[in-house]
Amino acid sequence: MSLPQSHRIAIVHKPGGPEAIEIVERPLALLRDDEVLIRTAACGVNRPDTFERMGFYPPPPDAPEGLGLECAGEIAAAGAAVDRFKPGDRVCALVTGGGYSDLVIAKAGSTLPLPDDIDLVAAAGLPETVFTVWANVFETGGLAAGEMLLVHGGAGGIGTTAIQMAKAAGARVIATAGSDKKCRLCRRLGADVAINYRTGDFADTVRAEGGADVILDMVGGDYVQKHIDIAKPGGRIVQIAFLQGSRVEVDLMRLMLKRLTLTGSTLRARPDDEKARLAAAIETTVWPWLETGQLQPEVQATFPLSDASAAHRLMDSGDHAGKILLIP
Ligand SMILES: NC(=O)c1ccc[n+]([C@@H]2O[C@H](COP(=O)([O-])OP(=O)(O)OC[C@H]3O[C@@H](n4cnc5c(N)ncnc54)[C@H](OP(=O)(O)O)[C@@H]3O)[C@@H](O)[C@H]2O)c1
Repeated sequence: MSLPQSHRIAIVHKPGGPEAIEIVERPLALLRDDEVLIRTAACGVNRPDTFERMGFYPPPPDAPEGLGLECAGEIAAAGAAVDRFKPGDRVCALVTGGGYSDLVIAKAGSTLPLPDDIDLVAAAGLPETVFTVWANVFETGGLAAGEMLLVHGGAGGIGTTAIQMAKAAGARVIATAGSDKKCRLCRRLGADVAINYRTGDFADTVRAEGGADVILDMVGGDYVQKHIDIAKPGGRIVQIAFLQGSRVEVDLMRLMLKRLTLTGSTLRARPDDEKARLAAAIETTVWPWLETGQLQPEVQATFPLSDASAAHRLMDSGDHAGKILLIP
């Protein structure tokens, strides 16, 4: 069967608002030996895509052209060195770019097979958040059963995934969100406590709960000091973004006294073999939670790929809860 020669991707000529996104036809790159070609059922939209659109998050130099970090669909072709996947297999994949497309090239090592009963469209919302939560909450943060996780943005893509994965692992979860409605979603997904940070101080609630063992922070700013103050002895604070700024003045005395770890990471720039290692660990530990229903992609809205600008408009509004997906 001959392969398509071209695909549609979403590019940004000049950084700006959602209207800066353009859908264009491009020749399909040659498939390398360690890659697969995925005919997508859907592509996930993530907050980092909006930063990239605005020109604040340049892609790594070797990333494929175009916005988009994840997708799900069926294998259309597999490279010569790929023995794990064959045409027709249902998969989802993490990519470093070009994920908003009808045909996506992914490294086989960053591609995961999907259980039969998982909806192929919803599965497009899994890779970016599952890889991020696994790498930061479980590997770096070392969250263990019985421990307390504090996660901000609990109703967002990362937040909804973190709540479910932490609960599946037997941990307790405190989530913050910006409205009572979003807090209800956090509780529905399993959060033991959900705090509307606009109407109360989350730090008081965390203290009342005895502190947090692991804190997943995408906010930064004045949260950094609060986290040092409310972490339990031996606690781990993991930065994955700085929505309120990365320049802060903090008093590190409690960090020393409580033997805290303050660390962070980004996913996109990690080398392919590191992503393959993460994928293998996820398949072993997290994928069974998909089969038991303990982890379910929380989808807020779908848009046609041709209307990626509308999807970004919704994400920019902050009104979304869960994932936004594009249908090619
Ligand atoms: N380091 C990494 O490897 C990595 C990987 C993926 C994502 N990220 C980062 O993780 C963050 C979340 O990504 P996502 O895709 O889950 O985005 P998302 O779906 O938009 O969720 C982000 C949530 O953060 C909350 N929020 C926004 N601004 C805030 C602020 N100033 N203070 C407190 N909360 C705020 C919003 O909820 P409320 O309405 O409740 O405030 C929103 O639900 C992004 O900043 C992204 O860049 C990092």
